[in-house]
Amino acid sequence: MIKFDKESGIFYLNTKSTTYAMGVWNGEKLLHRYWGKRLVNPLNKTDLGDYVARGFEAVDLQGGNSDIVPFEYSTFGNADMRIPSAEFRFSDGSRVSNLTYKGYEITDGKPALEGLPATYCEEGDKVETLTIHLEDTYQNVDVFLSYSVFEDFDAITRSTKIVNRGERLLLDSAMSATVDFYGSPDRELLHLDGAWMRERSIVRQPIVAGNQGINSRYGCSNMFHNPFIALCDKNADETTGDVYGFNLVYSGNFTAGAEKNPFNGLRAYIGINSTNFQFVLENGGSFRTPEAVMVYSSKGLGEMSRIYHKLYRTRLCRGKFRDTERFVLINNWEATYFDFNEDKIVAIAEKASKVGIDTMVLDDGWFSSRIDDTNGLGDWYENRDRLPNGLEGLAKRINALGMRFGLWFEPEMVNPGTELYKNHPDWILHTKGRKPSQARNQLTLDYSRDDVCDYIIDTLSGILSRANIEYIKWDMNRCMSEPGSAFWDGEHQGEVMHRYILGLYRVLETLTQRFPNVLFESCSSGGSRFDAGMLYYMPQTWTSDDSDAVERLKIQYGTSVVYPFSSMGAHVSAVPNHQVGRITSFDMRCNVAMAGQFGFELDLNKCTEEELKTAERAVKTYRELGEVFHKGDCYRLKSPFESDICAIEFVSEDKNTVILTVNCSKAMPNSPDEYILLDGLDETAVYTLDGTDKSFGGDYLMNIGWHFVNDRENQSELILFKKQKL
Ligand code: DGJ
Repeated sequence: MIKFDKESGIFYLNTKSTTYAMGVWNGEKLLHRYWGKRLVNPLNKTDLGDYVARGFEAVDLQGGNSDIVPFEYSTFGNADMRIPSAEFRFSDGSRVSNLTYKGYEITDGKPALEGLPATYCEEGDKVETLTIHLEDTYQNVDVFLSYSVFEDFDAITRSTKIVNRGERLLLDSAMSATVDFYGSPDRELLHLDGAWMRERSIVRQPIVAGNQGINSRYGCSNMFHNPFIALCDKNADETTGDVYGFNLVYSGNFTAGAEKNPFNGLRAYIGINSTNFQFVLENGGSFRTPEAVMVYSSKGLGEMSRIYHKLYRTRLCRGKFRDTERFVLINNWEATYFDFNEDKIVAIAEKASKVGIDTMVLDDGWFSSRIDDTNGLGDWYENRDRLPNGLEGLAKRINALGMRFGLWFEPEMVNPGTELYKNHPDWILHTKGRKPSQARNQLTLDYSRDDVCDYIIDTLSGILSRANIEYIKWDMNRCMSEPGSAFWDGEHQGEVMHRYILGLYRVLETLTQRFPNVLFESCSSGGSRFDAGMLYYMPQTWTSDDSDAVERLKIQYGTSVVYPFSSMGAHVSAVPNHQVGRITSFDMRCNVAMAGQFGFELDLNKCTEEELKTAERAVKTYRELGEVFHKGDCYRLKSPFESDICAIEFVSEDKNTVILTVNCSKAMPNSPDEYILLDGLDETAVYTLDGTDKSFGGDYLMNIGWHFVNDRENQSELILFKKQKL
């Protein structure tokens, strides 16, 4: 898996189908050598390509212009003028750093990253970790680059630890990964952008000269950009072409992009955003960057996504719910918003239990003075006008229906009118002399402080121990502003945004370990914090506040570029849809939601008998097929970003069951025939169309396709094929 060729000084990190290689140049510099299809033959000096090789010969690496040299890890000040992997400010005022190669270590498995979410391995996994030691000998700084190779998953993860052995220094930036590609003329940058209620649209742009990329300075991974980029061949599509994916396992500020030099060299980068970031490292102090997960596919985007899906589903998500069937829930938010009481919630649950829904989730508005969004956040005790029997009483009534009870929290926030705020005005993120901006009338609690985090852990633990709560929706509805802390002194203010995220991770780790039987779902104004960091603690995320089935086609399709369908909360809601006013059929709403973590978000008492029957049928189908949607391989066949048809196929792990979902956003009269080509089937096998005696060869379905005519509004098909046994 990981090999070091002492003679050439080259490290080979081999997965099943890929190789990532680095080389020690002149016993001193660590250079990036290759990332792509698995190599059979060893590399040598001339493999670098003319221009780069000339660069080495002509340029003393510590002088001249070494912008053409592919460094594995680059710091500021040594004639490499590109975006650095790390920047230091030393006690003598200098910002120049020079790292030289010191040694390496290869270990079995993968160590946890202290305080940070990360992928992990299990007994029997073929995983090895390479740690390369670089050193700034003048300033006494050690840099340890960690690479974990998941051989069977075809993925490599990276993280860096910086240790100061010298005088106090300031760390001004620290990427999780930079990769220098050379000879890359026609690459495109793919990223997932959006806004509230239209998260993660797929954007592709040519990489032109200079720097281009995406950022978050909101304090969280956010709705506008997701912490993911892919560098693709210009012609790469779902099934062909080189694609290099970079995803950050982190929920805070990030930056990611590519910088192109005039010689077709590219530096890709991903890591914590350096704006308002500055970490003080005393002598002996260290800093660990979040993990970057890197996936190379020579077979287009589909293959890259399937690698991310499997890795995240099985080696990022954790706990009891990782592998078990999750809940089919009904949430009262779109059914009642803030207007409810105990009886109303029970009435919704009663109807829901009749169609087979197993969990009733009570959303915002159950506590203290929270009758609208102006007050209450932080005072986490029941509003007895609404819940006269408290949470215990309500949970008991829900349990008596044979259902679980779930509850909404927004534990990172406080409203200024609450007791919590009056008692602890210093517990919010704020900056002396500046008025703290409110968003949705709320302020952000200062999770960079241990006392705030402990308070939240205790408060939630109390509630979870008192009432029978088996699911939590963990919401977060604003970004950080005036991001300072009353706890930290002036010199440490640049640490606050990152320390907030570390505090949040500690809170989540403690609560999820303390309550292993509670299913946690993350949410942030819908899907504004849909990231791999959150998935480590909570295996599913509310994908979007837009529950319209047609809008969801794009949102879920875009999300699936990185994240598995098993991580996407998806609900059937009422029509006309509350966000866009569109009317779609109940069938279509069920079919679209069923691919994710299926649920409902409406008052079923207001549904017709016909709709209730459809809901009941859908719950049944979901219980039969959920495993295929969530654990199977997903193939995106037709993109809703390119036409009115969205087709996605799911193939079960044992390859015996195939689900084809086809949904259309707009009908076309006298529509032309469409043939949707399936993928991932056994071409020699025969597949029966479930419930009929019709059968199709695997080769037929993959080469001729499934015939489809888009001439009816609300067209939605969920087609099930079963492989015939020999
Ligand atoms: C935002 C979430 O995305 C919604 O689902 C809902 O929980 C509201 N917050 C409640 O305030």
